[in-house]
Amino acid sequence: MKNLIRLTAVSAVLSAGLAWADEVPTNPNVNEAKEVIKTFSMQLKGELKHALEEGGPLKAIAVCKERAPAIATEVGAKMGWQIGRTTLKPRNAELNTPDAWEQKVLEDFAKRKAAGEDVQTIAFGEVVETEAGKTFRFMKAIPTVELCLACHGTQVAPEVAKAIDESYPQDQARGYSEGDLRGAFSVSKPL
Ligand code: HEC
Repeated sequence: MKNLIRLTAVSAVLSAGLAWADEVPTNPNVNEAKEVIKTFSMQLKGELKHALEEGGPLKAIAVCKERAPAIATEVGAKMGWQIGRTTLKPRNAELNTPDAWEQKVLEDFAKRKAAGEDVQTIAFGEVVETEAGKTFRFMKAIPTVELCLACHGTQVAPEVAKAIDESYPQDQARGYSEGDLRGAFSVSKPL
């Protein structure tokens, strides 16, 4: 029941289009969340780019599979945040399926993009009540860029598709084009 009330409140905020995360740039939690996401994403993108250059997409699949969660844990432990990635169409459903809060935010991000907002800057944050107490949660949209298409695009090479299918038989994360909303970074910190 408590959960239901919280979700109703969240969806009311979302449908009102209140993205105070962008409107209040001085909020220290928002700034810290953005910093955490930047650190995580730059390291991941750096390793991904390097692996793609060294061994092509087949080799780079391992970076996404093993390094993405490892970097999230490393950076999270160092900076004191919980870090994850989520999406409405997961490749790794076990790890990256959205929870109820993330699902609402992702749906809202999709609406905001459809209404013409730039995917690069779409973000949302708020304080939620959890069993452990007050937690600040923040999500930032992940746009699809050219680098991603070898594994998430509309024309994934057959040998790459085969390797993806072997690890992720339920993969939903293909068919994207540049500029699409691939998913979001999702970070949280107990207050
Ligand atoms: C070499 C292949 C490859 C490339 C290139 C690649 N990805 Fe992925 N991506 C994967 C794999 C494999 C996973 C599953 C990772 C896991 O098991 O956690 C994944 C997972 C993700 C997820 C987590 C959600 C989900 O679907 O499970 C996001 C978000 C994501 N990729 C975004 C991107 C973006 C953005 C780019 C471009 C900057 C990109 N990827 C480039 C292979 C790739």
